[in-house]
Amino acid sequence: MAERTYDIAWLPGDGIGREVTEQALRVLEAVAQGAGFRLDVEEHPVGGAGLDAAGVPLPDATRAACMSAAAVLFGAVGGPAWDDVAAELRPESGLLQLRKALGAFANLRPVAVSAALADASPLRREVVAGTDLLIVRELTGGIYFGTPRGISGEVQRTAVNTMVYDEHEIVRIARVAFRWAQQRQGHVTSVDKANVLEVSRLWREVVTEVQREEFPDIALQHLYVDNAAMQLVRDPRSFDVVLTGNLFGDVLSDLAATLPGSLGLLPSASLGGRVGLFEPVHGSAPDIAGTGKANPMAAILSAAMLLDEFGETAAARAVRYGVSAAIQAGYGTADLRRDGHTLLSTEEMGERIAAYATLVIHHPPMPNGVPEVAVLDP
Ligand code: IPM
Ligand code: MN
Repeated sequence: MAERTYDIAWLPGDGIGREVTEQALRVLEAVAQGAGFRLDVEEHPVGGAGLDAAGVPLPDATRAACMSAAAVLFGAVGGPAWDDVAAELRPESGLLQLRKALGAFANLRPVAVSAALADASPLRREVVAGTDLLIVRELTGGIYFGTPRGISGEVQRTAVNTMVYDEHEIVRIARVAFRWAQQRQGHVTSVDKANVLEVSRLWREVVTEVQREEFPDIALQHLYVDNAAMQLVRDPRSFDVVLTGNLFGDVLSDLAATLPGSLGLLPSASLGGRVGLFEPVHGSAPDIAGTGKANPMAAILSAAMLLDEFGETAAARAVRYGVSAAIQAGYGTADLRRDGHTLLSTEEMGERIAAYATLVIHHPPMPNGVPEVAVLDP
């Protein structure tokens, strides 16, 4: 009998969101029994699906279900069918409203390039192999939410957005980054545009103070965002934790996604409130929806982050092992072209990862590492 039950609000959203989160749920189910917990999964519409079902991108019932769940597993939102709706009704605004409602101010986006994947990268193996960084992106403030905002005028139109951060918003996200650095390599790179923007000057001052007063053990470096973009491509291994605001974090995380060779590999967790939100970094990719080409790994690794939040460390480790075992064994989806790899569909990949993860949950790896893939190949 399983003792622990977790209520998961499942928001597949649009495009490939459904197919990739279906595989994440499959893998979660596969490890649940061995790890001794149960999932209670309820589906709710969001994004374009929310518009179709209830006329808004974040229906009240969806919001309420998320607020009372143990965690939210989110797919992706958006697509050509809803491109012409008013700005406040765009599918993306459903996601932004949900982040705000959950108080999910801390967006964690880990980027790791294993030796097995280094050849899938557009960068040279010797530049990317061994990259292991964590982007800590502020998620509920900055220019995404600042007011005034809007487009006005008729003949000569004007548009305005406002980048704004209060000190307390900077302090709390800085603490998240420093705490992660304590668990990792002890190094934080804070990214801003302090040579031009007042918001960034305050950001830099506050981050420096938090480090000096609370985290003297952590090495802090500041980079302007343009330089950070260049360094991320030039020498990704020089980064440990990257701390930045909402807009810069959005841009840099897609850039960092090219390091392992595919956006289809990057998971995220958005934390800060009682309920965490777990979603792949990639979008809804309407052009490949339903073709079996989508890579479910980002969604599956997001599910591993969800397990971390629940304290289900053995299960989280099994899920991550499942993903790396599939990669090491040479399996790939359409986005991950490597020489001699075996092409799998979204569903086949989910099945394969679930099989590996189940084996590990039932046969814990040796203390000195995970068992050989060849031994475990189902
Ligand atoms: C992301 C996405 C979202 C963002 C969009 C869909 C609103 O690009 O999570 O990176 O800009 O935050
Ligand atoms: Mn983005």
